[in-house]
Amino acid sequence: MRGSERSHLAVVGAGAAGLYTALCAAREGARVTLVSATPLAESSSWRAQGGLAAAISAQDSPERHLTDTIVAGRRCVRTSAARNLCEQAPAAVADLERLGVRFDTEGDGSLALGLEGGHSTRRIVHAGGAATGRRLVRSLTALVGEDPWIEVLERRRVTALLLAHDHCAGIQLEDGHEILTDATVLATGGAAALFSRTTNPPGATGGGLLLASQAGATLADLELVQFHPTALAASNGADGFLVTEAVRGEGALLLDAGGARFVDELAPRDEVARAVARQMALTGAASVGLDMRAVDPALFPNVASELRRAGIDPKHELVPVAPAAHYMMGGIATDLHGRASLPGLYAVGECACTGVHGANRLASNSLTECFVFGARAARAAVREPAAPVRSAASPQPPPSADSPPLRIESRQALWRYAGIERDAEGLQQLSEDPHSLVRLIARSALARAESRGAHQRRDCPSADPKLDGVHVTIGQDGEVGFAQWS
Ligand code: SIN
Repeated sequence: MRGSERSHLAVVGAGAAGLYTALCAAREGARVTLVSATPLAESSSWRAQGGLAAAISAQDSPERHLTDTIVAGRRCVRTSAARNLCEQAPAAVADLERLGVRFDTEGDGSLALGLEGGHSTRRIVHAGGAATGRRLVRSLTALVGEDPWIEVLERRRVTALLLAHDHCAGIQLEDGHEILTDATVLATGGAAALFSRTTNPPGATGGGLLLASQAGATLADLELVQFHPTALAASNGADGFLVTEAVRGEGALLLDAGGARFVDELAPRDEVARAVARQMALTGAASVGLDMRAVDPALFPNVASELRRAGIDPKHELVPVAPAAHYMMGGIATDLHGRASLPGLYAVGECACTGVHGANRLASNSLTECFVFGARAARAAVREPAAPVRSAASPQPPPSADSPPLRIESRQALWRYAGIERDAEGLQQLSEDPHSLVRLIARSALARAESRGAHQRRDCPSADPKLDGVHVTIGQDGEVGFAQWS
């Protein structure tokens, strides 16, 4: 179908961030078109095993949550964004409960709070143990489907953002159909599946980042990619399956080849992933052992069943695990209301970079981010002036981009040269890769000539204090810059 139509707001992506942003905007009275390239069950959110971090218990406070977020982020967190996240997280959880999401509870009906790495107290709410993403997406999808203000276009791919006088004026779909909007929100998820070893579904290759960048929006922190320490190392189809950090919160241990512990299992994720990688390098083994024998499998039914399907009985044997690319801290640079540098364009969830995660995201802050910043972006986006006020010109896609399809060679090169440890020589090679996002990651990693959080340079092994709080940006035309955000 060709032609064009108008919608106040287009939301691209139907994971947790997209669904919730669409619902919040519709609640504010906006007509929303929600576009999803994949069936809903393939979003990263659907797979999310971690929960939402929120200071809910009497022993906790947003201030304490903020401190943990800042410590984990290795002096690169945008404090204003993290303050919003931590202060608004409990209200986000309450809103989701009002919308019908059933989080796990204790016997007395209070929310059950889990512990994960880098958190100084129990503050993670889950739904169905490690099935949080699935439960959330299922509930929110049902609400979106019933909402008369939201039109859903499934299995439709966005090929370009439409521009009118340097404003984002809508989206173009694969079949040429155009949706003209006052505001467009990208909620397209992450890019960790650019790496050959990943916990992410195959579609998580940064499509939204490319759309934004081609339209001239600024990207930031692309070198800051989080590696999860405990992805299943298996030779069958289950390789890369995420074994949630929450099992370590319930006592699972990481053991070396001799059966000894080698790391504090609940340290922030960058530290644990590095320790696992070093163990593997030391022994030449392809994995370390995750000892879940003392953990009640009933707490994590989908983890236990996936492991059994892979032929592993976690009650009686060690689970072989190794790091895998998991989460993009970087993305489309936004302000605290999800606004990208291109007027009319917003980004929320993993494709956005508010700076909230700094150089190392605190576990389970990402789902919280989807809801806190999804609501903030929806409130701002529905207040965008109507497009005709801006311009009567016919919106056009930007000149076509140069990125060929992602090849397995690029994915392997990214893992080899921009994995847990990098150096300038490998990154230089990568900066010639045919895929433009791979090149931009390499160029950002070259620009950050230091080691910080998830970004560890063999050739620059220390953090450079001059880069505290500094974000590496990719501007229009691909130029690399540095920015400090208030
Ligand atoms: C996990 O459950 O270990 C992953 C959750 C997250 O990425 O925060």
